[in-house]
Amino acid sequence: MKDYLMRIVVYGFLAFPVWAEDTAKVVGQSEPVVATVDDDVILPCTLRTIVRTINAVEEAVVWQRPDLKPKEVHFYRSRDDYNDDQNNNYRGRTSLFKEELKNGNISLKLTGVKLSDDGIYICFIPTLKSLNQKASVQLSVGAASKPQITVFGVDPMGVILKCEAGGLMYGPEMTWLNSDGNILPDGPTETETDSDGRYTVRGHVTIQKTDNNKFTCRVQQHQINHKMETEIHVPDQMFSEPWSYWSQSYWWAWLIGGLTGGACGIYWGLPLYGYIRYKINEWIRKKRNRDTTDDEDSPMSGVEDGNKEAVQTGS
Ligand SMILES: *[C@@H]1O[C@H](CO)[C@@H](O)[C@H](O)[C@H]1NC(C)=O
Repeated sequence: MKDYLMRIVVYGFLAFPVWAEDTAKVVGQSEPVVATVDDDVILPCTLRTIVRTINAVEEAVVWQRPDLKPKEVHFYRSRDDYNDDQNNNYRGRTSLFKEELKNGNISLKLTGVKLSDDGIYICFIPTLKSLNQKASVQLSVGAASKPQITVFGVDPMGVILKCEAGGLMYGPEMTWLNSDGNILPDGPTETETDSDGRYTVRGHVTIQKTDNNKFTCRVQQHQINHKMETEIHVPDQMFSEPWSYWSQSYWWAWLIGGLTGGACGIYWGLPLYGYIRYKINEWIRKKRNRDTTDDEDSPMSGVEDGNKEAVQTGS
């Protein structure tokens, strides 16, 4: 009897690790998945034991957002998707990797990420008789958009580029790089927060011509280890040669404006000048004639003559 009990205990003890190792469970990911709006992401989840993966083709696989109503994000069973009860926000954007299910890969693919996708997702095998039939994955939508680069202006020092990124979840840092990956000296960056507490970052850099004129704006959120980059190719013609400075449109506007003004001035001014000269000469000639002939026709000349006499008598 004692022997018998002993045997149960010993075998049980030996068997426990085997049983534990062979217990199926759903495994998510403790690190959040970080995405930018418009990204396609994979939320990883696996059906497995400690030592091997388990075929999930015949299982029911459920993805949920417990904080939403309805909470259904994706539903699969009997080898097919059933998304009638799916939350409208996820309509047409979710899928499983059907070829991977046999390897226990029940990861969810989510396309066209939106800010509202930010949250905790549960992957769930309801048919699994285990405490570990559920696991969670966090999706962190770290940024509303990739950095946008624009050409801000041209000056004798080079081309000025501007970079902006918005909707950032954590305090961002902006750096500019050339195509060799070297950091370029840039101006001060401004960071502001909107009412949702998300950051917008903005910065400028003045660049000189390089072999390929490719420049990168990098925005990092160190807290979540998130990095976004956008590259711009600046056309050769934009660089100075001081000529490119003068090729800017406003210089041309001044020049053309000036020339046109000058031409108009000459066109209208010369005849007018001639006309005025003619009138003055005519007046002088008339006046001379009047002085010599003492013409009394005009009352003006009468006044003049009277004044002249007054001056003469006064002296
Ligand atoms: C599942 O399969 C997809 C597609 O092949 C792959 O990208 C992903 O890394 C896999 N995930 C896991 C957890 O195995």
